[in-house]
Amino acid sequence: MPRTIIEPFRIKSVEPIRMTTREERARLLEAAHLNPFNLRAEDVLLDFLTDSGTGAMSAHQWAALVEGDESYAGARSFFRFERAVQELTGYPHVIPTHQGRASERILFSVATKPGDVVPSNTHFDTTRANLEYDGVEPLDLVVPEGLEPRSRHPFKGNIDLGKVERLLAERADRVPFGMITLTNNSGGGQPVSLENVRAYAALLRRYGKPLVLDACRFAENAMFVKLREPGQADRTPREIAREIFSLADGCLVSAKKDGLANIGGFIALRDERWVETARNLLILTEGFPTYGGLAGRDLEAIAVGLEEVLHEDYLRYRLRTAEYLGEKLLAAGVAIVEPTGGHAVYLDARSFLPHLSPADYPAWSLSAALYLEGGIRGVEIGSVMFGKRLDDGSETYHPLELVRLAFPRRVYTQSHFDFAAEVICELKAKAHEVRGVRFTHQAKYLRHFTAEFRWA
Ligand code: F0G
Repeated sequence: MPRTIIEPFRIKSVEPIRMTTREERARLLEAAHLNPFNLRAEDVLLDFLTDSGTGAMSAHQWAALVEGDESYAGARSFFRFERAVQELTGYPHVIPTHQGRASERILFSVATKPGDVVPSNTHFDTTRANLEYDGVEPLDLVVPEGLEPRSRHPFKGNIDLGKVERLLAERADRVPFGMITLTNNSGGGQPVSLENVRAYAALLRRYGKPLVLDACRFAENAMFVKLREPGQADRTPREIAREIFSLADGCLVSAKKDGLANIGGFIALRDERWVETARNLLILTEGFPTYGGLAGRDLEAIAVGLEEVLHEDYLRYRLRTAEYLGEKLLAAGVAIVEPTGGHAVYLDARSFLPHLSPADYPAWSLSAALYLEGGIRGVEIGSVMFGKRLDDGSETYHPLELVRLAFPRRVYTQSHFDFAAEVICELKAKAHEVRGVRFTHQAKYLRHFTAEFRWA
């Protein structure tokens, strides 16, 4: 039996991608103020900016779109979507939203108050920003291995239970609920073990606190559990995912990841506590509770996506993609977050550009240099995303300086990844020429989306 893990699909519809010259890219990058978010997608050859909403839908999903019931209230598509979410999560209350951050904003508005503290392994940037916007302190309590790019712990997304226990012992009255991100996107796409979720849920329960999963990548996390956690090898990803949901009290989901959809999200909850207020807020800002800012056809695509994403051959290929690129980079001496995560490879910019200091924003500078070198667009996960300019004008820095190359689902083939590896290795050979960057403009919240820079 051949050992090669192939793309478990054939291609029915293609979209051309365009090579540019280095001169063109230099000009385009300057015009974008060195911010890859400001580039036009058609000027990017391999777009690894995000795995969110960028996946290819299956023929089955495209067919489901036509079945979309666009009725304002009580659409058939909502009930299909609701059943798919209920069957997956076991939670009876399902609230559709237009994407993950809308789920965050709504749940946080109804379930937190200023001065609260919400622990997680690592909050994603929108999660963190939505909590802060409500005056809530987001606390990142990932295990120490999660902050060591080269530690090969199998579950570097686990939350540090000792730290959670201390938080609860000291400030339980301030904690409305606990969260955990599956997989831990901002910490390298690293998985959380079933055992860790179980112990975290039990600890929160002792203090009467619910557990809310940020479950955007629940399927990738379930596959890691199957492959890495003792005793889980013979279970299906669906069984594992269902058990993880069963340990928690609710979830916030962006269906743009493991929903295999281009837009959408949901909140799903086990008990009624927050449901009515959340639905009222939904009507105010997203839409009626049976569509929540989505078209009926989007609900159909998500319902199919939530089923397809748990297919084992798909998940095996999916995790192998990141591992494959990771192996090539490691063989060439490029430091990455190890082991590779589910949806992305994270380049360690401090190691790639050792001559730069934190004030040079090495990960940002590397993301700009990658575009210049080969038309590849990644995203900085470092001090631009997670640092802050304080009122006195000083800057805070993030402990990790990473460039995330996130892979759209079912979009690129193995030769695209071979090409990406070549570009990164060529850049590494002249890494000493890459300069740092300086801010020329920044916003107060989520500054990475709109920041502008110049080369130092
Ligand atoms: N939580 C996690 C863990 C995420 O990765 C994201 C989005 C969200 C919440 C918010 O969901 O985009 O639908 O509003 N992550 C994307 C990314 C943007 O590129 O990693 P959203």
